[in-house]
Amino acid sequence: MFWVQFFSRHASVQKILAISSVTRRTSKSVKHGRSVCLRSIFFNSVKYYPTKLVLGIETSCDDTAAAVVDDTGKILGEALHSQNEVHLKTGGIIPPVAQQLHRENIERIVKETLCVSGISLDELSAVATTVKPGLALSLGVGLEYSLKLVDKYKKPFIPIHHMEAHALTIRLINQVEFPFLVLLISGGHCILVVAQGVSDFLLLGQSVDIAPGDMLDKVARRLSLTKHPECCKMSGGKAIEHLAQQGNRLHYELRAPMQHHRNCNFSFSGLHFNATRIIMQKEKEEGIFQSKIHTNCTPDLWLYLQKPLLLTISAGLQEGHLLSCVTDIAAAVQHAVALHIVQRTHRAILFCIKSGILSQTNATLVVSGGVASNQYILRALQIVTDATNFNLLCPPPRLCTDNGVMIAWNGIERMRAGLGVLHSTDGIRYEPKASLGIDISEQVGEVAIKVPSLEVSLNELATINL
Ligand code: KG4
Ligand code: ZN
Repeated sequence: MFWVQFFSRHASVQKILAISSVTRRTSKSVKHGRSVCLRSIFFNSVKYYPTKLVLGIETSCDDTAAAVVDDTGKILGEALHSQNEVHLKTGGIIPPVAQQLHRENIERIVKETLCVSGISLDELSAVATTVKPGLALSLGVGLEYSLKLVDKYKKPFIPIHHMEAHALTIRLINQVEFPFLVLLISGGHCILVVAQGVSDFLLLGQSVDIAPGDMLDKVARRLSLTKHPECCKMSGGKAIEHLAQQGNRLHYELRAPMQHHRNCNFSFSGLHFNATRIIMQKEKEEGIFQSKIHTNCTPDLWLYLQKPLLLTISAGLQEGHLLSCVTDIAAAVQHAVALHIVQRTHRAILFCIKSGILSQTNATLVVSGGVASNQYILRALQIVTDATNFNLLCPPPRLCTDNGVMIAWNGIERMRAGLGVLHSTDGIRYEPKASLGIDISEQVGEVAIKVPSLEVSLNELATINL
């Protein structure tokens, strides 16, 4: 019934967002740094007998999140505590701080989730928890708490791969069948995979250095965007998107990386380096040399510094005035990131068609992860999917960023498929590093597909007021 009413294929971003507003009514609202307990009207008025109920718990990075989802995909309740504001103040995630905040919040978040859902722990079919990949100290809190729960209430445990959960979230709101292409772009990851089944993935490419969200966060910090009145509480990527709308990307030239590497891998360190060089040049012109590092170090010397040192120093910079041209720099950085992502994704689409992994008719590209909430990047991807006749699907922003719903839903998917549902938790460990699927990125590079230029359409995109 629920599937018939709410699940339908939607090719445009606008329609997807419309679906999300329907789903949202049946779950709690989530705000940064706090959570709100709202019981759904729907559940108060309809007698309801689900067969499977999974509690999902997520603590892999800087969000403590939980949700209860049933086997029809209905979100019974969720709660989330975001550490974003704390980490914005410290200029990045400090793992022991993240661990402490997870410890302080996990019990409250799980209790709120159950309260919103109207479900007791005894009624649960299983507990699903992110165990990989992520920050070791953060993963440890969620796993330890979950193992105590499943031990006390004698529930099956479903260990979850964070990226698998991001990849499958779309199936909660759209009836998309395997196989489909997935682009995951977040603060910690950048991967292109083909989802062939619940736990069956082909890895086409990934970032060889940092993730796009990490790069945007670093540039935002380097621009001191937390001092900007319009975006003081936004994540770096969100702040860049917000300011880019008012800027002209043509004022600065930032080229998309890896133009001569005809594979589906990504790289964002060079872009970060070039953006930093532009910022330093502008700081010099505008006489902004606020930090100790700047006064002791000329821009030229900066460029000779080793990359790790440069990243460490720039990540630590919190002082400094805002440049007059932050909007233009934001627009140029966002466009270069979009162009790079689009070119690699275009090649992945062409590779999947050429190799017969995906059919040329009715194939789907799913985009997820925190950076997928960027409307400019989505519009750029839409140009590629229109040109290749793919459907473009993207979960609503609150399901693109880290959340408990995707973990609970992955648990449901695994229960249905009979995969990885454990009745003994002996030997369960978290894994900070974990790849997703079978790596065929070398084969993709060997085919070396030349991607046709969509430069004209993308240039038009830059002039569209999003
Ligand atoms: O998926 P996510 O919540 O956490 C993980 O990294 O797993 O993604 C967070 C990342 C951050 O780097 C943040 O700056 C970025 O997503 N982000 C955005 C936007 N909103 C969040 N990047 C670009 N545009 C946005 N609107
Ligand atoms: Zn994530």
